[in-house]
Amino acid sequence: MKFSYANPTIIHFGQGQIQQISSSIPKNAKVLVIYGGGSIKKNGVYDQVVASLSQHSWSEFSGVEANPTKETLDKAIAQVKAENIDYLLAVGGGSVIDGTKYIAAAALHEGDSWDLITGDYKVDNAIPIGVVLTLPATGSESNMGAVVTRKATNEKLGFLSPAVRPKFAVLDPDAMKTLPEKQLVNGLVDAWVHVCEQYITSPTGHMVQEGYAEVLLRNLLELGAQFNQRDDKWRANLMWTANQALNGQIGAGMPQDWATHMIGHELTALWGVDHARSLAIIQPALLRNQLEYKQAKIEQMGRNVFGLEDSADLAERTIQSIEAFYASLHVDTGLSEVSGDKSDAIELIIEKLEHNGYTMLGENRTITPDVSREILTQAL
Ligand code: NZQ
Ligand code: ZN
Repeated sequence: MKFSYANPTIIHFGQGQIQQISSSIPKNAKVLVIYGGGSIKKNGVYDQVVASLSQHSWSEFSGVEANPTKETLDKAIAQVKAENIDYLLAVGGGSVIDGTKYIAAAALHEGDSWDLITGDYKVDNAIPIGVVLTLPATGSESNMGAVVTRKATNEKLGFLSPAVRPKFAVLDPDAMKTLPEKQLVNGLVDAWVHVCEQYITSPTGHMVQEGYAEVLLRNLLELGAQFNQRDDKWRANLMWTANQALNGQIGAGMPQDWATHMIGHELTALWGVDHARSLAIIQPALLRNQLEYKQAKIEQMGRNVFGLEDSADLAERTIQSIEAFYASLHVDTGLSEVSGDKSDAIELIIEKLEHNGYTMLGENRTITPDVSREILTQAL
């Protein structure tokens, strides 16, 4: 086990915590409040943010879409430069937070913002970011990743930099009260697959990371089972579990997969499939395809997460249990956006994976384009 680990994001967790913004952002900062399509105006979050910023000088940028696009974010970057903004406050879900990270980094770059994604510009600095989270799912509120779509080319790609990790994040479960059921399910499934990407590889004997990952998976399973009895406790548990699933801790010093995410992103880029649903479509087929590497860990998950008895087909029964979890949440695991024969769609995805250089995915780099084709043929 070998790693360096720090997660310096200060978390203000609990009801009423939005007021912490006031003391968390320097009083002399020029703040840009960034949000999405307006859900925050319907649940009181916007009003609470405005109240806590009463001592600050601030302006706003709205309209960051789900799966944020370079095209929209470039407008915010221009505003940041024009108004000499020096603090960004993201109020929303993963899309708004990721978009804000992109703005924070690109606003300090003279060239095209997409250079961050291609690696032509290395992100060492960024405008500081604060977050008010309204949708627990991605963990973006305290991690250093962001995923952005370039609409012009249908590319959905990410970048990672410690410079864009938020300085603080407010996690007030009351902000979730207006979430449509579909988005809550998306949150559960995305957090679940985040844990899986860092856990379903091979046994490592790293007791903290594996044991905590199993706790998070059991939480999500239980929260799924209690979906129809949601209350304050349920919301708080989901919000904290989804954060812990991708704040870096369970992945420290661990082999990681992320192939489900990379293939899934293409379904979103090409057909607008919700991020979480794209994962539920791909993951079971990927696990079956990679059984020769993942069998022992899938069996461990069967025993420790689903409470299954040992048997020769334990791994297959575990994968079936994952599928049953998705089915219990009514996640559509077919690519219903493409009717009839899926072979053209599969070739399109393979072309994009190759174009993006994703030709050796997975913890063992075994998922070549031919293997991705096998997985997609099974999955779709
Ligand atoms: O735009 P508004 O009006 O706010 O509506 C949003 C949006 O339509 C709505 N919503 C959010 N909070 C709400 C609410 N509606 C009512 N009440 C509330 N409290 O929900 C819709 C979806 O929001 P979005 O932010 O897109 O969802 P999510 O948090 O699932 O983020 C998905 C994005 O994150 C990326 C995904 O690829 C996708 O682009 N990811 C980011 C990661 C990271 N940074 O670490 C990792 C993930 O694997 C993922 O790739
Ligand atoms: Zn995800």
